[in-house]
Amino acid sequence: MAKQRKQFVCRDCGAVAPTWTGQCASCSGWATIDEVHAPRGGSSSPVANLDLPPLSSFDFSGAIPVPTGLDEVDRVLGGGVVPGGVTLISGEPGIGKSTLTLQLSMSMAATGAGVLLVTGEEAPAQVASRASRIGEVPPSLAVLDDTSTDAIVGAMQSTRPALIVIDSIQTLRADGVEAAPGSISQVREAAARIVEAAKRHSVSVILIGHVTKDGNLAGPRLLEHVVDTVLSFTGDRHHDLRFLRTVKHRFGPTSEVGLFEMTGLGLEAVTDPSARFLSDRRAGAPGSVVVPALDGHRPVLVEVQSLVIPTGERPGTFVGQGVASGRLKQVGAVLEARAGVKLFGKEIFISAAGGAEATDPGVDLAMALAIVSAVAEDPLPPDLVAFGEIGLAGEIRSVPQAERRLHEAFRLGFRTAVVPRSVPDGPTGLRLVRVDDLPSALVRFNARANR
Ligand code: TYD
Ligand code: MG
Repeated sequence: MAKQRKQFVCRDCGAVAPTWTGQCASCSGWATIDEVHAPRGGSSSPVANLDLPPLSSFDFSGAIPVPTGLDEVDRVLGGGVVPGGVTLISGEPGIGKSTLTLQLSMSMAATGAGVLLVTGEEAPAQVASRASRIGEVPPSLAVLDDTSTDAIVGAMQSTRPALIVIDSIQTLRADGVEAAPGSISQVREAAARIVEAAKRHSVSVILIGHVTKDGNLAGPRLLEHVVDTVLSFTGDRHHDLRFLRTVKHRFGPTSEVGLFEMTGLGLEAVTDPSARFLSDRRAGAPGSVVVPALDGHRPVLVEVQSLVIPTGERPGTFVGQGVASGRLKQVGAVLEARAGVKLFGKEIFISAAGGAEATDPGVDLAMALAIVSAVAEDPLPPDLVAFGEIGLAGEIRSVPQAERRLHEAFRLGFRTAVVPRSVPDGPTGLRLVRVDDLPSALVRFNARANR
């Protein structure tokens, strides 16, 4: 028999303590520590005549994705949902997770596939009313108004739907576990049972999980290793744009991004993000530079705007919106140290216009040009784009997908591109200005930026 050793585990948060305590040091719960006996590792008896199957003997045909019919979601998932695969969609409350999954369920059910919605958050009548506003409700979309894992697994077994959507993981009760719904031990155990049943019955499962801005609420973080796919659904609640991103994906690509707009009739796919981000642009303003940024694998044109205001005798401060704040600070430091641009005593704002997100390193050069254009009050030509990573020595470094970035810029009417030296020729009619370092990228401003 395996030897046992004592462990003290918190019933609510799962933290392991070396000794028994009245209060859990991790979640601060009182009287939640249980003594459990854990088997010592490495003591199992040796197995004779091990007959292990070769990897090639396994059938992997089950991993072929089934389209949901919601194209942006299918693209992000690399084709659709996988039978037996469990996907976690996490996001802040109110961002649109229920709406997205309802649309996806309606779309998939419209093909005749059986889809089951577990409505732990809302009453079925509420969901039905929302569904009727979005479109025709297919007859093969069923509802389970019960959050016990036994009920869900039972429904999986008896109805064998193609897809089950569970809204949300925080409302589930794992039968026999005594912690409150939403507590870590409930979420963990409920998810484990659902995942096991999904694999056994080859049912695709989508779990919805709430997170707060700091990712704090019990659940999603804890589940990332249990599920096959993690998607995060984000956006600024004051803007209509929503981003669906892959955090982890066992069955497909991991850096596709789906873009939606929240409308009165549910979420609508944004099919031409570049055109949408540039629609309100006032070309020819100082501090405005367009960058073909990477959104996952695809290039999307984003306007980077800068505004620089004097703040007196203080080091420069940087405020970024929709850009990587660490990269912004670094670009500012390199501008000062390698190109002699004086940012002391200035507050520098940089924003990706229209709620866009431009965080790839290729955005560096556009940020630098925008800042200097704002400082010099000198607009860049309206048909110019720029991309390239800026190194600490002030060199302009190459970035992935250069050719596709150039084509996207040309498609939207841009005719000049400031790019790293190594970038190959793009479409005919697009003039490339190849630059080695920051000073050579800023030549046109030299007369004015350092005043
Ligand atoms: P919801 O999907 O309920 O968010 P979550 O499940 O992530 O908490 O959607 C939240 C918001 O979306 C809500 O404030 C209303 C808005 N909304 C629309 O603007 N249009 C619509 O068609 C729907 C269904 C919701
Ligand atoms: Mg919801």
